[in-house]
Amino acid sequence: EERMTPYDAIGEKKLSSLVDAFYRRVANHPELIPIFPKDLTETARLQKQFLTQFLGGPPLYTEEHGHPMLRARHLPHEITPRRAKAWLSCMSAAMDEVKLDSPIREHFFSRLALTANHMVNSPDKVQ
Ligand code: HEM
Repeated sequence: EERMTPYDAIGEKKLSSLVDAFYRRVANHPELIPIFPKDLTETARLQKQFLTQFLGGPPLYTEEHGHPMLRARHLPHEITPRRAKAWLSCMSAAMDEVKLDSPIREHFFSRLALTANHMVNSPDKVQ
């Protein structure tokens, strides 16, 4: 039996456009600018690989970099609850831009929200 994955439903092209739209927003978000590199080309390439496998497509990230260990890989970066919210708001706006359809969108976004909350490793600063 052949099962259609969310990756098949979205397609490589749309996933790539989504990640590009997302990092254009990250690059301009005041909460996120301080922790991301100026040049987001490589970050976007890694994220395309990761989200491909996250959505049930080929394991591109693991083939090149080994186990994702996402929480460990994020520990060098100060990820506050406010930054997790900002990350998710950039993703939601990127999903609007590329017109990602329901119900894939809701399912994908809720899994990203769980992952984003799991990445939080620092408290918000006052103000
Ligand atoms: C890498 C921030 C959530 C997947 C990074 C980097 C930062 C970051 C600063 C390093 C970028 C670089 O140096 O190239 C954040 C923040 C998040 C968040 C503030 C908010 C909660 C997520 C989520 C996912 C994710 C939810 C997956 C669904 C990745 C991947 C990388 C990465 C795959 C590349 C890891 C590598 O170096 O191989 N993130 N991230 N991040 N992030 Fe996040």
